[in-house]
Amino acid sequence: MKFLVINGPNLNMLGIREPEHYGKETYEDLINKIQSYCKEKNIFCECYQSNHEGCLVDKIQEAYGKFDGIIINPGAYTHTSIAILDAVKSVQLPTVEVHISAVEEREDFRQISYIRLAAVKTITGLGTDGYLRAVDFLSEYLDK
Ligand code: DQA
Repeated sequence: MKFLVINGPNLNMLGIREPEHYGKETYEDLINKIQSYCKEKNIFCECYQSNHEGCLVDKIQEAYGKFDGIIINPGAYTHTSIAILDAVKSVQLPTVEVHISAVEEREDFRQISYIRLAAVKTITGLGTDGYLRAVDFLSEYLDK
């Protein structure tokens, strides 16, 4: 199985940004954690991060025909980006939405998620372990 893990804007600032919401692990810690978990499970995984909406759209489009599924934390673009939603719909790959924080307990503007309309599953509030639960979910989903 081949998974693409995409992180959107400001997720490269993990460990520095708002630790009360996002914890103390750095982005590098997160990637190492995902990669070693996938290795244990014999899953190939590529991780990508960008602060730019168009780059995220490009990366999703490139996944077509190359990956079996996508795990995405679009960051603030979750709440604004129809372009990212449309990209995920275009490639028709099973996609899991992940948020490190419990977005449902936060500001009103975080209650809208465009990507959720195309996601097979949403995982929130589990810290960086949410990405590992997304790997579990996607591998079971694809096994069925
Ligand atoms: C986030 C939640 C978003 O509202 C926020 O803009 C982020 C991170 C999360 O992982 O909890 O950048 O997606």
